[in-house]
Amino acid sequence: MNNKIRWGILGCGNIAAKFASDLQYVSDAELVAVGSRHRPVADEFAKKFSARVSYGSYEDLVNDHEVDVIYVATPHGLHHEHVLLCIENEKAVLCEKAFAINQRQAKEMIDAAKKKNLFLMEALWTKFLPNYAVVQQMIKAGKLGEIRSVLVNFGFIPKKPIAARIYDPKLGGGTMLDIGIYNVFMAMSVLGKPDAIEASMTPSSTGVDEQCAATLKYNNGAIAQIFSSFSSNLATEAHINGDKARIRLTHRFYSPAAEIEFYPDYPDSKQIIPFEKIDGFGYHYEASHVGECLRKGLTESPVMTHADTLSLMEVLDKIRAAAGIHYDVDV
Ligand SMILES: NC(=O)c1ccc[n+]([C@@H]2O[C@H](COP(=O)([O-])OP(=O)(O)OC[C@H]3O[C@@H](n4cnc5c(N)ncnc54)[C@H](OP(=O)(O)O)[C@@H]3O)[C@@H](O)[C@H]2O)c1
Repeated sequence: MNNKIRWGILGCGNIAAKFASDLQYVSDAELVAVGSRHRPVADEFAKKFSARVSYGSYEDLVNDHEVDVIYVATPHGLHHEHVLLCIENEKAVLCEKAFAINQRQAKEMIDAAKKKNLFLMEALWTKFLPNYAVVQQMIKAGKLGEIRSVLVNFGFIPKKPIAARIYDPKLGGGTMLDIGIYNVFMAMSVLGKPDAIEASMTPSSTGVDEQCAATLKYNNGAIAQIFSSFSSNLATEAHINGDKARIRLTHRFYSPAAEIEFYPDYPDSKQIIPFEKIDGFGYHYEASHVGECLRKGLTESPVMTHADTLSLMEVLDKIRAAAGIHYDVDV
């Protein structure tokens, strides 16, 4: 492997730009190449983020022998196709969330990577953030007691012009796979895989979920309530409640912007728990981790494992089935 991990980016949209910008904080990373469906878009992106090469097709990008790992940043309805394209061309992959539309697709992607002995990880960036780590330590240390409930909401009204991927079923549109996934991830990080699921949704004009509410139930009596919406601006926060104390992760609970409020007593004994503050958007943590995995010759992250991805996809599948959220690739 070269001096630095050589990154390629597939799809030059919104999140790709944030990720490219954050690579500047990873000392062991270099943005080598970017690929877009449109050459001028790739050229402009490459210029802005000082990538050495730009390609007007994803096929050209995956054939670049100077690239070690590709960040797949297309809409989730296309992740299956684009991850397989990378793997067929011997590339390690970091793939944006939602990893796939359903667990079947996720399995196929993981099996393909395993067959070729290539690294593949879902870009669930929250799991690599300092505030998330602090919350996990607090729970492990028993600061909250036994966790009895998790309440999470994530909602915003998409701003115009609205990206096609938000409502287009072919691209995996709808709240659950786009933002509800963070709610599910947070609930499962604290309580694990649910034993039973109830869910309902409001369809948008395209049939995907404009709002979705789900209850995740556990045999020990714990409950997680999650809600996602594209039709109202919500607090977008997470409450983790134990029988001793509770934590509130404030606005954008899944991001480095969220403060950790700890309430050891009822009703109002708020303590703000400190954690490492960062420059950038926060995507450099996952990027550094991928670099470390590649240096060690790993094909799977020990932090965001394939089993984690499959289990998250399984619960998303079950919530969608209960709520009646269906995509053509489900059959
Ligand atoms: N981790 C996070 O915080 C975070 C935040 C936002 C989004 N995401 C995830 O990242 C992925 C991309 O989201 P985004 O907000 O970056 O989306 P976006 O701005 O719409 O960009 C997606 C890019 O995918 C490419 N693409 C290929 N085929 C396409 C098609 N048929 N329609 C639309 N775009 C197509 C386009 O790039 P070219 O034109 O250059 O080919 C487009 O710019 C999604 O899976 C989303 O869930 C993650």
